[in-house]
Amino acid sequence: MDTALIDRLRADLTAARYTVDALGALWGSEADAALERANRLPAIRALAGGQAPRATLATLFVLGMPVSTAAAGSAFPELELAGAQELGLVTVRDDHVVALIDLRPYDFLDAQGAGSWWIASDLGELATGRALRTDHVLGVGGASLTLSGLLLPDPVDSVLDLGTGCGIQALHASRWAARVIATDISERALEFARLTAALNGIGNIEFRLGSLFEPVAGERFDRIVSNPPFVITPRTSGVPAYEYRDGGMVGDALVEAVVTGAREHLAPGGIAQLLGNWEYRAAPAGQGTDGLQRALGWADAAALDAWIIERDRQDPAQYAETWIRDGGTHPGSEEFERLCGAWLDDFAARGVTGVGFGYVLLRHPGRAQSVAPEHARLRRTERLDAPLGRGTAGLGEHFSTAVAAHDWQAPRTDAEVLAARLRVAGDVTEERSHWPGEADPSVLVLRQGGGFRRDIRVGTELAAIVGACDGELPLGAIITAVAQLLDLDAAELKRSTVAEVRELLVDGFLLLEVGG
Ligand SMILES: C[S@@+](CC[C@H](N)C(=O)[O-])C[C@H]1O[C@@H](n2cnc3c(N)ncnc32)[C@H](O)[C@@H]1O
Repeated sequence: MDTALIDRLRADLTAARYTVDALGALWGSEADAALERANRLPAIRALAGGQAPRATLATLFVLGMPVSTAAAGSAFPELELAGAQELGLVTVRDDHVVALIDLRPYDFLDAQGAGSWWIASDLGELATGRALRTDHVLGVGGASLTLSGLLLPDPVDSVLDLGTGCGIQALHASRWAARVIATDISERALEFARLTAALNGIGNIEFRLGSLFEPVAGERFDRIVSNPPFVITPRTSGVPAYEYRDGGMVGDALVEAVVTGAREHLAPGGIAQLLGNWEYRAAPAGQGTDGLQRALGWADAAALDAWIIERDRQDPAQYAETWIRDGGTHPGSEEFERLCGAWLDDFAARGVTGVGFGYVLLRHPGRAQSVAPEHARLRRTERLDAPLGRGTAGLGEHFSTAVAAHDWQAPRTDAEVLAARLRVAGDVTEERSHWPGEADPSVLVLRQGGGFRRDIRVGTELAAIVGACDGELPLGAIITAVAQLLDLDAAELKRSTVAEVRELLVDGFLLLEVGG
């Protein structure tokens, strides 16, 4: 990789103020929103052939439209057109310059603050007007943002990013890890990721080619992050196998392989975070039918702690439609029905009744001296009811606090929990529903404004206890006071609520007061 050319490219992008905000200002919020819906026309109209460097760069690398050689020359005053060609960014066709890659600014906000990078990847369908190549290298997509938002931001020494693609997770990890190893089965993906890292001046990522854990045989990491190619794809001829989303295995076996393989590559106490799909299957004798429990079973088989969160569940037809559309084939065509048939046959062969999607956190059970007792191990599954809105930004810190809360309460006795000082989290509100004319609420719900946006139905007693948790009095004293107020037996109220308080702590509704 020619670092001198990359330095010049960086200088040109900086001089042109090729940033998310500046592009938004260039074509406006409506065109921005249209681009997200895969409609580039409003942006093309807004630019209306503008020749300023920023407009030229956006025309080439975001909209995938040709520009004149003169305009391209002015957009690359340092790199020059020849340098842009040498770096493989553009080519000249019929007196016009066309982009060979997608190169766009990307903004983020994480625990260390705001930042921005330029990300290189293949041009998408919107720019090329063609269905994706099977070796397509994805840019930053919805799933990439979901995972990057979920990553625990606690500083560590080493991180493995398995299936790095354009390098987005590795880039994020490089902010809180001393060194990152980024792997991919695709040499093209690694080339994009190397270019992206160099362009953004990030020097602590090492790139390695190979499948799954092969490139890191014998190595262990403090963290593993992976947005793996988890899409379940029929192994039938004529069904395209897109490298960026399909690991070539049957059903959800690729996710199982990443989960079980993580055991050998996590340092004691190390954490893996990944996205995945899991199949729900009709019950053959002796096997679970619940997808979330199957996923938990993979972690159990590998003797890993686990917290698995299911965000969505689709039936076989919905799942097939989603991924056939993603590959550029639209409903109503013969091809769509042929592919849909292949998916439904594949699901039927394994008795698949649904597919879950969600977030997997795995943890190596720890150093020999500090392995948690069996009852205190992290082993949770849950289904989220509420959508997470526009993304998971900031969830990593919430998740980190939640894991710490689990580890604090799990080995402690009820008496120890009752002695703690707790505080209700700032994003928790209480919602009361009354039958018309009734003074007492019929339903009380505690609602989490941030984090995983959970809603929890509670009784009057628990709502009163949570409301009184201001970090001053120990939990036991608060429960005694609430019992007096409601004319209840204090010992019985403690017995009946302490398990719920533990759950509220782990879910982040209650926080442990430091020194509490
Ligand atoms: C869904 S993309 C994720 C890209 C990126 N990490 C992100 O979060 O956007 C999955 C990546 O895994 C890679 N991949 C596919 N099969 C693989 C395998 N067997 N071993 C390692 N990587 C693989 C693909 O080339 C692709 O880059």
